[in-house]
Amino acid sequence: MDQTESTASNLIFAVNGARFELSSFDPSTTLLEFLRTRTRFKSVKLSCGEGGCGACVVLLSKYDPTLGQVEDHAVSSCLTLLGSVNGCSITTSEGLGNSKDGFHPIHQRFAGFHASQCGFCTPGMCVSLFSALVNAEKTNRPEPPLGLSKLTTWEAEKAIAGNLCRCTGYRPIADACKSFAANVDMEDLGINSFWRKGETDEVKLSRLPFYSGPKNQICTYPEFLKGECQTVMHLDSKQNSWHCPRTIEELQSMLELHMAGNGTRSKLVFGNTGTGYYKDEQDYDKYIDLRHVSQLSLIRRDHAGIEIGATVTISKAILALKEEFKGESDMLFHKIADHMEKIASGFVRNSASVGGNLVMAQRNYFPSDIATVLLAVGSTVNIMTGRRHEKLSLEEFLAGPPLDSRSLLFSVHIPCMGAIQNGFSAETGSRLLFETYRAAPRPLGNALPFLNAAFMADVSFSKTGVLVSKIQLAFGAYGTKHPIRARKAEECIAGNVLTVALLYEAVTLVRETVIPEDGTSRPAYRSSLAVSFLFRFLWPLVDSGAQIFKDGLDGCTDALMERTLALKNDNNDFGRIGNLEFLSSAKQLVESSREYNPVGEPITKSGAAIQASGEAVFVDDIPSPTDCLHGAFIYSTKPLARIKDVNYKSDPLPDGVADVISFRDIPGGGENIGTKSIFGTELLFADDCTTYAGQRLAFVVAETQKRADVAAGAAVVSYDTESLGSPILTVEEAVERSSFFEVPSFLYPTQVGDFSKGMAEAEHKILSAEIKLGSQYYFYMETQTALAVPDEDNCMVVYSSLQSPENAHTVIARCLGIPEHNIRVITRRVGGGFGGKAIRAIPVATACALAAHKLRRPVRIYLNRKTDMIMAGGRHPMKITYSVGFKSNGKITALHLDILINAGISADISPIMPRNMLGTLKKYDWGALSFDIKVCKTNHSSKSAMRAPGEVQASFIAEAIIEHVASTLSIDVDVVRNHNFHSFDSLNLFYEGCAGEPTEYTLPFIWDKLAMSSSFDQRIQMIKCFNTGNSWRKKGISRVPIVHPVQIRATPGKVSILKDGSVVVEVGGIELGQGLWTKVKQMTAFALSAIQCHGTDELLEKVRVIQADSLSLIQGGFTAGSTTSEASCEAVRLCCNILVERLAPLKRKLQEQMGSVVWDILILQAHLQAVNLSASSYFVPDFTSMEYLNYGAAVSEVEVNLLTGETTVLQADLIYDCG
Ligand SMILES: Cc1cc2nc3c(=O)[nH]c(=O)nc-3n(C[C@H](O)[C@H](O)[C@H](O)COP(=O)(O)OP(=O)(O)OC[C@H]3O[C@@H](n4cnc5c(N)ncnc54)[C@H](O)[C@@H]3O)c2cc1C
Ligand code: FES
Ligand code: FES
Repeated sequence: MDQTESTASNLIFAVNGARFELSSFDPSTTLLEFLRTRTRFKSVKLSCGEGGCGACVVLLSKYDPTLGQVEDHAVSSCLTLLGSVNGCSITTSEGLGNSKDGFHPIHQRFAGFHASQCGFCTPGMCVSLFSALVNAEKTNRPEPPLGLSKLTTWEAEKAIAGNLCRCTGYRPIADACKSFAANVDMEDLGINSFWRKGETDEVKLSRLPFYSGPKNQICTYPEFLKGECQTVMHLDSKQNSWHCPRTIEELQSMLELHMAGNGTRSKLVFGNTGTGYYKDEQDYDKYIDLRHVSQLSLIRRDHAGIEIGATVTISKAILALKEEFKGESDMLFHKIADHMEKIASGFVRNSASVGGNLVMAQRNYFPSDIATVLLAVGSTVNIMTGRRHEKLSLEEFLAGPPLDSRSLLFSVHIPCMGAIQNGFSAETGSRLLFETYRAAPRPLGNALPFLNAAFMADVSFSKTGVLVSKIQLAFGAYGTKHPIRARKAEECIAGNVLTVALLYEAVTLVRETVIPEDGTSRPAYRSSLAVSFLFRFLWPLVDSGAQIFKDGLDGCTDALMERTLALKNDNNDFGRIGNLEFLSSAKQLVESSREYNPVGEPITKSGAAIQASGEAVFVDDIPSPTDCLHGAFIYSTKPLARIKDVNYKSDPLPDGVADVISFRDIPGGGENIGTKSIFGTELLFADDCTTYAGQRLAFVVAETQKRADVAAGAAVVSYDTESLGSPILTVEEAVERSSFFEVPSFLYPTQVGDFSKGMAEAEHKILSAEIKLGSQYYFYMETQTALAVPDEDNCMVVYSSLQSPENAHTVIARCLGIPEHNIRVITRRVGGGFGGKAIRAIPVATACALAAHKLRRPVRIYLNRKTDMIMAGGRHPMKITYSVGFKSNGKITALHLDILINAGISADISPIMPRNMLGTLKKYDWGALSFDIKVCKTNHSSKSAMRAPGEVQASFIAEAIIEHVASTLSIDVDVVRNHNFHSFDSLNLFYEGCAGEPTEYTLPFIWDKLAMSSSFDQRIQMIKCFNTGNSWRKKGISRVPIVHPVQIRATPGKVSILKDGSVVVEVGGIELGQGLWTKVKQMTAFALSAIQCHGTDELLEKVRVIQADSLSLIQGGFTAGSTTSEASCEAVRLCCNILVERLAPLKRKLQEQMGSVVWDILILQAHLQAVNLSASSYFVPDFTSMEYLNYGAAVSEVEVNLLTGETTVLQADLIYDCG
């Protein structure tokens, strides 16, 4: 927006230094929505839309005119409401640097450390790191060495906690971050494209893109906004429905208006992060922004404790609790702060308020950590209703009726230790103990707790042990409406000396109290956590008390107390208590040879820097063409039902909806087809009957994505199930009803040996053991997306994020009933596919094409995460029953497997599963191997390719059987593995036709090498020692081999040399983040350099790989199975060979004339002399090289906390032979 004369009532803010002024806006608009649809800054990506992934992180800067200071915080723009950025400045990754003005060293280092694969998460990561750098520079720490920052390595790694990456793995990302840290050890940084092995630390530092402090380079808060920020606070509420009371009186008047009950629907709002958990689809007449009421953001301290205003952010509360209270109070507040640091991620805590959290806990029964922790210390809350203030204990508040919209949480008061102890009327010599606990799927970063707890006890020594005079036990988040105090257990303990019997009694009472409500997941685990935590809190006291008694010491001396407390705090056997250690490190050894230079060199990934700056264009970043509409799917919620009607309560269509497309809109000559694989097709839309929950019923097309999503959600579908029978929901039902997909015989794997004979040789047998494996969602960061643009003469161009443009091309043409040459499918890059965009992306592209075809307008879609999860399908669940025979030494003589694969409703790629599974399962010599595998057709969404489909499950099954045999025989599992390793002969038998030559069977070598390099045997001994010395923490180590049959598919390629000597390459494969384009570039440079003229050593810079276009290069096939790079490179090599052959005579001629030839001259001459400088090829692997075996092995060391189930991978070592 151009600079205009500002009026105080307008919304004014800056984005990357540019001024924006809006006179009106929809108050439910998020910052992300605004940035992505109304600005050119597309680096802010929408992935989860719930504050849970960090793809949308921006730096939000505020100016305090009184202090003259700028506050900079990373926040998630998907939750931040646009109205709340009034007077703020926003910096996105593009604002840090870009391809035109120069990249920021953060971008360059992310690129050089190979920290960006698909790149969808990278801009958010860069901003999170930038925020950490900016704030570190503000500290008064000593000046760092040149090129580094004031960050510590610990902070650098923590900077990206909460930012999800689904491709790269965090080690290279952490390396990129740590490369900025003042205390970085260059040796610890992994493989990168900056330096070569063996260079000194000084040289390494000098090779890093130079960093001179963020403030020197980027102004996060522009000067012009400083002048305006005092006037911009007050928005014109009449225009915007966004109200910003500036005083408590103004706020009270607004709340009183409510009390008058005038029927307006209004919402108090601060960080709006609550919508990350509770989707708020209501329309409000009024948003009341609490951020300008200064009384609500105060932090007051007195002798009794600390009062935290409701709008104090969790981040600020942590700082206040940590910094302000020293000495006695230190411990309590510090522990509360430590616990708060495990809530969400930094970019959520920076905008989430303490008040918002408590209100959600009270009103919505949110599983809050803050509520539990503050309950244990006896906090109180101040509630304001109209002008009336009421003080309640937190316990009363939580248990009371839900806070209504006329009331406000004003503040919360946390008593300090002194005040608490007085309240306990403790005896002299007593000590207050306080601990908080939390178990969640991940220790840090956006995982809500299974259960949290906080305990406080006043203890002193008596002759017989530790006397607990008073104790408060709070438990929450375990499937309860609000946190509770375990009163019975408290009463049982209080006033007594701790003994084993008392502890047992207390634990029993807690088990009876902490009972998750019906429908809560993992109820038994949650209850056991409650017991474990209490045990962990009290056991050291029971223990030390007993010891004191035994030693015959009497009295409660301070020294003894100190010893006991130290024992309690340091009791490592229970696992980590304080802050979690973040730092990770890794070493990679990659052997490469210069023989094929630059093939195999660890060069920077093609496009990595533009991925980091956010300039890389994903499908949803393509600007909308004029008149573009947006689509959303209405899907079935029944597994089997007739569809009577799809309708809206409001008739006709809701506002902004252009049409609702269904199977009835398939044009004459077209087909209702949504996917296609070699095994069959799937409907685009259900016709009269839906056959699985999540099936596409219709496609709402509306003016904006938001309207389309809302309209799809508001559709009312009437079903009728009469006389339809029951759906098939389990594999057992599928077997009963013989509901299977056929597996073509050429794909069905071969059995080995004679199972009955093998069983007869066995000395031990395990019969009919069962394994059940569940499904898994893809969680690509970029959800399914497409844009269809009608073109002249009944043509259609479809931009789609998918792994198989060729198949989508065919499906779209068949659906629209037009020739294939009318369709063009373009895919430039994919924000993570993992198999989920091979088949499952096709209906998304086809629905857009169908709508665009009917309405003659461009139509696009970006699926919201929920719909994507419901429709995606994912990994195949399965049930395995096995019988295995073996000798006493662990040698397996026979294995039989019955495998029932739940494939869902359509064949998709499922008939390939038996072959994939057995390819991996045969990694051991099972003696005789027989199996019966059924691919079951059920009334579920179709399961599809998902990251090593079948292979992951098969590897798990094989290892589970090996472990089972070892535990049955009570022998070491490694002994069983070693006994069942393939000899080359048995390998040949199991992998007939693809075992290669004996020298190519490198697995035994890898196996031994890995044992050496990982110090496997020594670590086994160390672990045995550790386990003997620790009751509650146990370590384990395991070494596992892998054999992977690689299958190469036919692939096209095209290489063209332009007049200036630059080269453009097309391949059938899709850049999914795996680095396909980089490898293709390397191969092109290598293969063209065979012409042997000057300048070819710079060819790498001259090569550009361009987007896949299904008309320009046909027969592209699938990008899957980890072989596309190999095949595409071979196709390109063939093209280059043709070009070199064509150029060779001219080169010889020029050489004779000129002595030496330079690449650019050669190419210019070739153009002048009409040499055909474009070559295409179709690489078809010959039968002998189509399939071969890859080997690898890995060692993992893990630690399990027996009390909580928490598992930590301590170290992983792997060796992979990629041939
Ligand atoms: C990804 C993610 C992970 C999270 N993980 C955790 C976790 O592990 N543990 C945990 O405890 N919490 C967690 N949270 C919750 C988080 O702490 C809360 O969302 C946040 O504190 C709410 O504050 P807010 O300012 O954003 O509230 P808002 O979203 O602005 O408001 C939330 C609700 O409270 C009302 N409200 C807000 N302030 C007041 C007030 N002063 N008086 C009356 N009503 C008010 C609003 O009207 C709204 O209904 C997580 C949140 C997210 C998004
Ligand atoms: S955190 Fe905003 S999209 Fe995930
Ligand atoms: S690179 Fe991180 S999600 Fe793909």
